[in-house]
Amino acid sequence: MRRLLACSLLLLAAVACQQPRDAATPQPAPAQGPLTDAQARAVYDRACMSCHGPTGKGNGPRAAMLRTSPTDFTDPAWQAQAQDDALRAVIAQGRGSMPPFKHRLNPQEIDGVLRVVRAFAP
Ligand code: HEC
Repeated sequence: MRRLLACSLLLLAAVACQQPRDAATPQPAPAQGPLTDAQARAVYDRACMSCHGPTGKGNGPRAAMLRTSPTDFTDPAWQAQAQDDALRAVIAQGRGSMPPFKHRLNPQEIDGVLRVVRAFAP
């Protein structure tokens, strides 16, 4: 129980530390057509990499603190069975230790990070 509390506090602190940067940009930004690959990667780096890691293996610096492990996007079996619509839903609504992003990312940004996730396929 104490551990859980300590972990929750750590997680809260981590979230709180990200606030100033997030507050500087209105979230989600107004929709403006599809993102370029570079823009999509920048959103991934900002919003997803801390857990999913730079190469999508699910080994970001925060991964060890999570209750459920981030999905390994480089697993071909996972890529083959994953449906785009289901992945968009997980990104928007969250699941397990994955937080929801629908209030921080607009649909174009969600499509963009989904492309990044797909590009991690071997
Ligand atoms: C706080 C850590 C964390 C962050 C930040 C995070 N994720 Fe996740 N993600 C997870 C975890 C944990 C899972 C596994 C969820 C489960 O247990 O079902 C996951 C699962 C997923 C899945 C797979 C769902 C499936 O069907 O297997 C996708 C896709 C995904 N994340 C995309 C993203 C994207 C894109 C971002 C950035 C916008 C992001 N995640 C940010 C932790 C995170």
